[in-house]
This record gives sequence, C-alpha cells and structure tokens, in this order.
Amino acid sequence: MNLFDVYPIFNIEPVKAQGTNVWDSDGNQYLDLYGGHAVISIGHSHPHYVQTITQQLEKIGFYSNSVKIPLQETLAQKLGELSGYTDYSLFLCNSGAEANENAFKLASFHTGRKKVIAFSKAFHGRTSAAVSATDNPSIIAPINETDNVVFLPFNDEQALAKAFSDEIAAVIVEGLQGVGGVQMPTDSFMQQIRQLCDQHGAVMIADEIQSGYGRTGKFFAHQHTSIKPDLITVAKGMGNGFPIGGVLISPKFEAKHGMLGTTFGGNHLACAAGIAVLEVMEQENLLKNAQEVGDYLLEQLKQFPQIKDLRGYGLMIGIELPEFNEIRKKLLFDHHIFTGVSGGVQTIRLLPPLNLTKEEADQFIEAFSKVVNKASVQL
Ligand SMILES: Cc1ncc(COP(=O)(O)O)c(C=O)c1O
Repeated sequence: MNLFDVYPIFNIEPVKAQGTNVWDSDGNQYLDLYGGHAVISIGHSHPHYVQTITQQLEKIGFYSNSVKIPLQETLAQKLGELSGYTDYSLFLCNSGAEANENAFKLASFHTGRKKVIAFSKAFHGRTSAAVSATDNPSIIAPINETDNVVFLPFNDEQALAKAFSDEIAAVIVEGLQGVGGVQMPTDSFMQQIRQLCDQHGAVMIADEIQSGYGRTGKFFAHQHTSIKPDLITVAKGMGNGFPIGGVLISPKFEAKHGMLGTTFGGNHLACAAGIAVLEVMEQENLLKNAQEVGDYLLEQLKQFPQIKDLRGYGLMIGIELPEFNEIRKKLLFDHHIFTGVSGGVQTIRLLPPLNLTKEEADQFIEAFSKVVNKASVQL
C-alpha cells in the first residue's frame, strides 16, 4: 500500500534526536529551529520525559475515560499552577484541531448560538468547525463550507465593533498568529474582543496551540496583553511530540456528563508525557530561557538590512524577507539548520525547543548572515 501523498517533504530522514539537535540516516547533525512545527518544547528525547513515559507504559498505557485516572488531575493541577489559571478546568483531547472543535462546541452549548468571528490569516486546524474558522479556502471542503463564520481583518477594531451582535457565539483569536506569519495582536485589539464578548454574552477563545506552553516567554502569548479569555486551547508543546491537546475552561461554564468526550483523550501515557513536560519546564526555567534567548535572537537579527520585518516574542520569531524559499533551503542543506516558513507572507519562522542556548542562537545568526549575504536573489 502506498501513502496518500499530501505532504511535500525534504529528502531527509531523521533517525535520532536529542535536545535541540536531530541526526539523519547519513549521520548528519542538524540544529532544530523548527521544533517539528512548534511541537518540541522541552527538547527532543529529554531524559526525564523518556523515563516518565517508559515507566508509565510498564505500568498501564491506556484505559478508557470510564474509570479513575488520577494522572489527569495531576496534569490539570500542574497546568493551572504554571499557567496562572488555577480556577479553570481542563478537558483533554488529542490534537489542536480537536481542542478548537471542542472549544467551539462549548461556546455554542453555552450561548445557544452558532456564529463565530475569526480573523484574516488565522489557522485553527483541519477538522469541521476548526477548518471553517481557518482563513484558507483551499483546505475547506464543500462539506465544511458554512455561513456561521465571519472573517474580519486582524487587529481592525472598527471592523470588529461593526460586525458584533447578539448572534455571535464566539470570537477565536490566536495568542500570536503562527501559520499567518507570526502576526501579533495588539493589546487594545485583545481588550476590545474581551469587552465586546462581555457586552454581547459571547465567548472569547484564545487559540494557544502554537503560541502557548512557554513558546513566547510567557506561559501563554495572550499573557503579553491584559485580557483573560474564557477558553484557551492547547496542543503541540503540551506533549513534546506525544499527541495530546486540551481546552482550559473558565468557571462560568457548567459541565454535564456526556457533553464532550473522546476515546483516547487523557489516556495514561499522554498524561505522563504532559506531566513530564510541565515538570521540565518548571525545573529548567524554560520560560525565562525562551524570553532571554528570544530577546537575544531578535536583537541580533535587527542588524540585517535585508529583513523587511521582524515579529514575535520569545522563541516564536518571524523573519520577513523579500525571498525566503532559497534562504530556508540553504540554511537546511548548506548549514544543517531546520526552520519553518509562512508562505503567504514570505516569512521564515523560528520555533525551536525552549532550551535553545545563546551559542546555538549564534550558530544560526552566523549561518543566516552567510546565506543572506550570498543570496543569488537581490534581497
Ligand atoms: C494556531 C493553531 N491552531 C490549531 C492548529 C491545529 O493543530 P493540529 O495540527 O494538532 O490539529 C495549529 C497547527 O499548526 C495551529 O498552529
């Protein structure tokens, strides 16, 4: 059987990974500034993570949500403490799209409404409601087409005020837009979403699937602004590669048995992975490191006149260039550095593990300097 060919891939096969490095089948070592698409938070194959998951698997790997699984409570407790949302509750699922899907359901159950506001360049996943709220018509199948989602220009307060009504169930906004090219919401835009949601009885959802879990130097990217969302969705960095997602739910929502559910969500192994991630984040002070090394990288990158625009916080950095494909390929094949991209806005995205060191940041800056100064295209 062949694989269904939906991914454009690089001709590289990683076979080993440790910390911020991966090695391919030919023994080449790479610096990973992509983190497997913002997934690797505490570093590849962290020893505490490997040990916790291994020991859990030797005890019990899975049982359904029809029994007591105290690891779920341990995970929720720790997540509340580290994120500052101790009074919220947690629903566990398996991926980012699924987290947003459940957030939309909660918002709709809670308000009895079905209309959602989303923003230009937003990405919220590929399942039904999540893809409907994603600003990319090419991945919306006819079955996902709906009039329930209104797209508004990002950071446009006037458009938001004009579009709001008592029909709106939810506004969904990324803490820091990822796929859209690391676009930052302004504090006043976030405050306006909060205020209009309160005024009209709508639910504010912060999608922190890419920008959360310490990536921007704070636990959640929206914590760079002054608002508190009603629902916060998480995945990616939450499991450091183990599939797990979740919704943090404000106390204003009432749970009912059967309202949400999943077979795999919150299983023993996923919880063990999630707990190990939070333990390492705390023990190794990874938020502080993301902040410091991120600030350092941004400062270093400011010296390049070739960069059209530089965006981001912490270790979620967007480097907008007149041309980015050749630069990314040269970084990968000539200098063995993985980076991400956002095609629509010609932006290289840095999403490394949160334990990136200043020396590794320097390694990137040196390679970047060689590549942009030698680029065959006029930058
Ligand atoms: C902001 C955001 N939301 C949702 C998703 C979807 O997550 P998943 O691919 O785990 O379904 C992504 C994935 O890139 C994302 O960046």
